[in-house]
Amino acid sequence: MTSDELRNKYIEFFVSKNHKQISGKSLIPENDPTVLFTTAGMHPLVPYLLGEEHPAGKRLVDFQKCIRTGDIDAVGDPSHLTFFEMLGNWSLGDYFKEEAIKMSFEFLTSPEWLGFSADKLSITVFAGDSEVPADDESASIWKSLGIPDERIYFLPREDNWWGPAGATGPCGPDSEMFIDTGKTTCGPDCKPGCHCGKYFEIWNDVFMQYDKKEDGSYVPMSRKCVDTGMGIERTVAMLQGKSSVYETKGFAELIVRIEKISGKQYGSDESTDISIRIITDHCRTAVFILGDKQGVKPSNLGQGYILRRLIRRAIRHGRKLGIEGSFLPALGSMVIDQYLFIYPELEASRDLLLKELAAEEDRFSFTLQKGEREFEKLLPNLLKSKNPIIPGRMAFKLYDTYGFPYEITEELAAEYGLKVDKSGFDKAFEKHQALSKQGADKVFKGGLADNSETTTALHTATHLLHKALRIVLGDHVQQKGSNITPERLRFDFVHSEKMTPDQIKEVEDLINKQIKEDLPVTMEVISLKEAKEKGALAFFGDKYDEQVKVYSIGNFSKEVCGGPHVSSTGNMGYFRIKKEQSSSAGVRRIRAVLEYS
Ligand code: ALA
Repeated sequence: MTSDELRNKYIEFFVSKNHKQISGKSLIPENDPTVLFTTAGMHPLVPYLLGEEHPAGKRLVDFQKCIRTGDIDAVGDPSHLTFFEMLGNWSLGDYFKEEAIKMSFEFLTSPEWLGFSADKLSITVFAGDSEVPADDESASIWKSLGIPDERIYFLPREDNWWGPAGATGPCGPDSEMFIDTGKTTCGPDCKPGCHCGKYFEIWNDVFMQYDKKEDGSYVPMSRKCVDTGMGIERTVAMLQGKSSVYETKGFAELIVRIEKISGKQYGSDESTDISIRIITDHCRTAVFILGDKQGVKPSNLGQGYILRRLIRRAIRHGRKLGIEGSFLPALGSMVIDQYLFIYPELEASRDLLLKELAAEEDRFSFTLQKGEREFEKLLPNLLKSKNPIIPGRMAFKLYDTYGFPYEITEELAAEYGLKVDKSGFDKAFEKHQALSKQGADKVFKGGLADNSETTTALHTATHLLHKALRIVLGDHVQQKGSNITPERLRFDFVHSEKMTPDQIKEVEDLINKQIKEDLPVTMEVISLKEAKEKGALAFFGDKYDEQVKVYSIGNFSKEVCGGPHVSSTGNMGYFRIKKEQSSSAGVRRIRAVLEYS
């Protein structure tokens, strides 16, 4: 059975049981600051589970796009995904445990519907604790349907309690349904919930009896509700007799493509398999986030940061597999093809979405290798030391200069059996934020705001800009002023016309080319006369001492300047002109940034 068939059957079954189909919602919850993404089908229904009347009635069914990044580290095993589709049916104060469980059983085992053998079903129910009693009622309903005691497991709150998506809201005990894959058990303690691959969880019936309040108390709800969630990808894997979601059709297509471009074989070794699974999972999730109607873009905040982490982690694993060049947009396009009939929003935003994916890939590919090299330089000493921990400032440098989300550094470190000093990273991060804020607030007379790495790189970028403008616009270009903060450079220069988009692009490209070439930046102290003879630029009408410092960037630029500068251009990031405007008569002003991330 394909996922399309499963989706249709589920809806058809519950409609036949008097449910109304409602439409799934955006992945970005509306007006809900408690979570970044829709994590379950019940999420958009919280107000109705709490008592609001739903216009479609008391019995509802739908399918919903979901993202759970809490599981991100588990991605790579056979069943965890960051993006998945959830089928769900709800009773809003209508049926409760008996009818819900009976319908679940019928849908799972009836030959007319999914036709799983009841012998393969294992069930878990809530074991009870000091706050809430055991869910004996659910257990006896399962027993009445023929599930023997030995396949009904009573598990604690971590396993069989559905908490609210945020901190507060409707919740209660749940009963989960597992398919036995037929694998041998991993040991005497193996039971549903174990991740060895023997038991595959496919469905969860939640019995919402409580409203969790801010003070932590559970208030019984007079109107009890049922919330169920069946994972499409996992259920399809079981229906197709596979042992992993990655063996099902959609994933298999992506995997074949990755095998082709990497030259690696899925199934050949564990580390290759994990990388391939991470790429397919993260690429799918990134496509769905980018294609959501709310238009999230990669950034360093909130949903945008999750998106960035996913894309960058996928790229890193791509490089680990030996994939060179761009690969995510092609995979992303395949994901869109797979889902465009179900989620037309993906097709509608195809071009923009793939462009964003390519742009983020471009930004990160540029610095990834350099960052890894920097990291590897540290390794020999670290591995020798008694307390091998990646210093926080190193993790921050990887973040700030090379665009490594912190979690990627952690993952990279773990591959060498190392840990990262998280609090050191946090401290460096806070310091940087304070500095940035200061930079943004302060007005500088000119020159540098501070000697931080970012500011220094921007200073070097100013020299590259000065020279590039002279090449593209002509020798009449002269520096009139410069002001640098940790966020950006501002450069005023003699030129009377507005720059065309082509000229701006040419200047950017020329500069990025110099950055890519990793040109050395050298300094010599010589006489002003000699500096001028050597063709060094020195224009700002300043009075110079007899001896001056001259900074050269490869053979590209030579300028009289007090410094400081970076020692070579390679790690500067990506140069981008943000604005070009008039400053005063005959003088233009450019604002530009170096993008590390
Ligand atoms: N809300 C329940 C879950 O996601 C059904 O498992």
